[in-house]
Amino acid sequence: MSSIQTPTPSVASTETLLSSLASQPATTIESDRDSKYLTSEWYTGNGVIEAAGDNRAFKVTATYTLEAEVKLVKGVFNVNNPVLAEVYRHRGRCVAVVDQTVDELYGDQLRQYFEYYEIPLEAKVLRAWEADKTPETVYEILGFLGKDGCDVSRNEPVLVVGGGVLSDVAGLACALQHRRTPYVMVGTTVVAAIDAGPSPRTCTNGKQFKNSIGAYHPPVLTLVDRGFFRTLDVGHIRNGMAEIIKMAITDDPILFDLMEAHGLQLLETHFATLNADAELEKIADEVIYRALYSYMKHEGTNMFETYQDRPHSYGHTWSPRFEPAVKMMHGHAVTTGMAFGATLAVTMGWLDAAERDRIVNLCCSLGLTVYHPILEDLDLMVEGQKNMQRKRGSGGLWAALPKGEIGSCDYAREISRETLTAAVSQHKAYCAAFPNSGAGQQMYLKDLGLE
Ligand SMILES: NC(=O)c1ccc[n+]([C@@H]2O[C@H](COP(=O)([O-])OP(=O)(O)OC[C@H]3O[C@@H](n4cnc5c(N)ncnc54)[C@H](O)[C@@H]3O)[C@@H](O)[C@H]2O)c1
Repeated sequence: MSSIQTPTPSVASTETLLSSLASQPATTIESDRDSKYLTSEWYTGNGVIEAAGDNRAFKVTATYTLEAEVKLVKGVFNVNNPVLAEVYRHRGRCVAVVDQTVDELYGDQLRQYFEYYEIPLEAKVLRAWEADKTPETVYEILGFLGKDGCDVSRNEPVLVVGGGVLSDVAGLACALQHRRTPYVMVGTTVVAAIDAGPSPRTCTNGKQFKNSIGAYHPPVLTLVDRGFFRTLDVGHIRNGMAEIIKMAITDDPILFDLMEAHGLQLLETHFATLNADAELEKIADEVIYRALYSYMKHEGTNMFETYQDRPHSYGHTWSPRFEPAVKMMHGHAVTTGMAFGATLAVTMGWLDAAERDRIVNLCCSLGLTVYHPILEDLDLMVEGQKNMQRKRGSGGLWAALPKGEIGSCDYAREISRETLTAAVSQHKAYCAAFPNSGAGQQMYLKDLGLE
């Protein structure tokens, strides 16, 4: 009988093993990855691991890089415009989430477009009112995108077509699906075109606060086509203008001049989509481009809000608390916050009264709200300010306020209750001279049946 002799492995003693481990030097490992393993066309990342050499701790520094494009286009669903087809043709299908009203108005064009290019379209149509901006709506979209629905790949851009509500909730669903699924945004309202659409802030409303639950996840491509504004209710055009004026006041004086000179015409012609001449069309394109550029200049360089110097937060310090309390349209709440902020800046010596007058006059001339009695609820205002400070961190409130000339701003670190109270009463007295004491036109949310 033969026996097989297996060689006895030479087993290092525990003592030797431990001493060799303990002698590991401090190391830094940087990633050097092969692009063939990339999971996405738009996202990359890198990491560095630093081990101190004591076998007790190491530090990780990781960076995440994304690419996002914003394009002004004409006739996005016109078959002569291949931009969308070029995104989807080689993917074999397009998975889309579409606002119900937009589908009623543009659904046929959307379907014909994809039929023309022989790209199968899987579309989910849903109501996206402010009242629908809830976690339940996000779950509903996730159900469509997920395995039991379309089973989208994490490298397949979902097409989102609608206003700011849909861009926020569908964007958040994309952020959650596979932890990160890209999306292409076609913003069909002014707000979605120049602000919410290309924004990295996807969200749903929380119980007490607007937009409080979300993720930073910008679309990989935003297509801005002002042709959609033709069918928008004039109240929504006005509402969107608030976000344009916000960027004009804080960042772009030429945009402010353009809005002073042509704002009313742009409102009446739905951004030169109704009864407008070529010159007004050019102005409309310029206004939209400038507003977008100004916004993205600050947003695109601070995609994850790792810095608090954000001009586009002007008008958004107190409004997140009072906007849901009085159920105002977002743009009206923001202009109320901006107009009040301008008066506050005057009381703080940051702004000349003449500049404040230009700001308030422009908003008023377009029918935007510059005063609402909710400002007099000082407990709510102070509470809102506290909430905002908690959100923005212990470093300060960092309330964006105009400073110097129109086109520039600064950030107030602290605003005492006394300063706030004095500014509210000054603003109330100042606005009393305006038509309807500063109340705007169609200022309340219609979808809640308040007007
Ligand atoms: N994420 C951000 O950075 C950011 C920035 C600004 C605003 N927002 C959010 O955006 C929301 C407001 O967006 P909104 O003003 O686009 O409102 P919205 O999405 O509610 O759209 C307004 C209405 O217009 C309809 N509609 C959309 N496109 C249309 C078209 N072309 N023709 C006719 N009707 C059309 C919609 O069905 C809706 O009834 C708010 O919830 C706000 O918080 C987010």
